[in-house]
Amino acid sequence: MWDLQSAGGADMGQLFKDKVFWITGGGSGIGAALARHAAQHGAHVAVSGRRPERLKEVVDAIEQEGGRALALVCDVREHAELDRCVEAIIEHFGTLDVAVANAGFAISGKVTEQSREDWQRQFDTNVFGAAMTIKAAMPALRKSQGRAVLVGSVASIFTYPAGGLYCASKAALRAMGQALSIELHGTGVSCTTLHPGFVASEIGQVDNLGRFDAGRKDPRPMTLMWTSDKAAKVMLRAIFKRRRELVFTLHGVLATWIARHLPSLAFRIAISSTATSKANRLKEGRSTRS
Ligand SMILES: NC(=O)c1ccc[n+]([C@@H]2O[C@H](COP(=O)([O-])OP(=O)(O)OC[C@H]3O[C@@H](n4cnc5c(N)ncnc54)[C@H](OP(=O)(O)O)[C@@H]3O)[C@@H](O)[C@H]2O)c1
Repeated sequence: MWDLQSAGGADMGQLFKDKVFWITGGGSGIGAALARHAAQHGAHVAVSGRRPERLKEVVDAIEQEGGRALALVCDVREHAELDRCVEAIIEHFGTLDVAVANAGFAISGKVTEQSREDWQRQFDTNVFGAAMTIKAAMPALRKSQGRAVLVGSVASIFTYPAGGLYCASKAALRAMGQALSIELHGTGVSCTTLHPGFVASEIGQVDNLGRFDAGRKDPRPMTLMWTSDKAAKVMLRAIFKRRRELVFTLHGVLATWIARHLPSLAFRIAISSTATSKANRLKEGRSTRS
């Protein structure tokens, strides 16, 4: 049901033939998988992010398979850098067809324990960075009748314990995507907002300051996790079809359905998982003391 073969009977190898993608946060996780899959479907891909070595790995992998790719070092919080990315993409590939605002990270902790700086840092990347990515890309997307893409989260709809800042940032992104879809109606440019559930990536190893730490344990439940390849296939199909919004992973669909239709149950699930993690922390504390 989810694989690309079922996307409208098109020749799947040619789905994005000679289309130019720009993916922020394209050096790891979901962004890197999306870059590789887009290239396999004929796209030329620019990946941007802060770590050049990670971008190079993605570019090398695409080029080894015969594709064309470009690495652009760019922090989405630096808005002039986003404009320079678009200039570099146009100079290199001649056009821009799909801009994916994917860069993001998650701050965890209680709302009342976070500082203004924490809120600022979360929104600088996840919200303002995404907004300015799409703004920078829009003149080129209008020319190509292209596609704007926002990577939201199931957390935009289902609020989980200690996720207040991240959930708020993704809820803002979801509203932004809906507003963009309305504004862009009739222009030939579309906006797709994608809401992943748990997908294997580095996000669980990034700290509250937005720094990757290879030694950090990913706290997410591995059994509910999709591979980034599986996620990339579903994302590409939604982008191709110009879907306005898509929630994915089966558990993600279930969680958002519960949040929308049974909010009291969603609340109880969140409360009980808070109680479970408190109990686990207590147990861990006891066993380290004994
Ligand atoms: N994985 C999941 O389960 C999941 C679920 C729902 C939503 N999402 C969303 O999916 C998107 C991709 O995350 P991921 O899971 O693939 O995690 P990831 O592997 O950590 O990828 C995030 C990417 O964003 C980049 N990034 C972070 N801050 C940046 C900044 N200021 N400027 C430029 N690039 C920045 C990072 O690259 P550099 O560090 O090199 O800059 C990294 O490549 C995020 O928006 C995340 O919120 C993920």
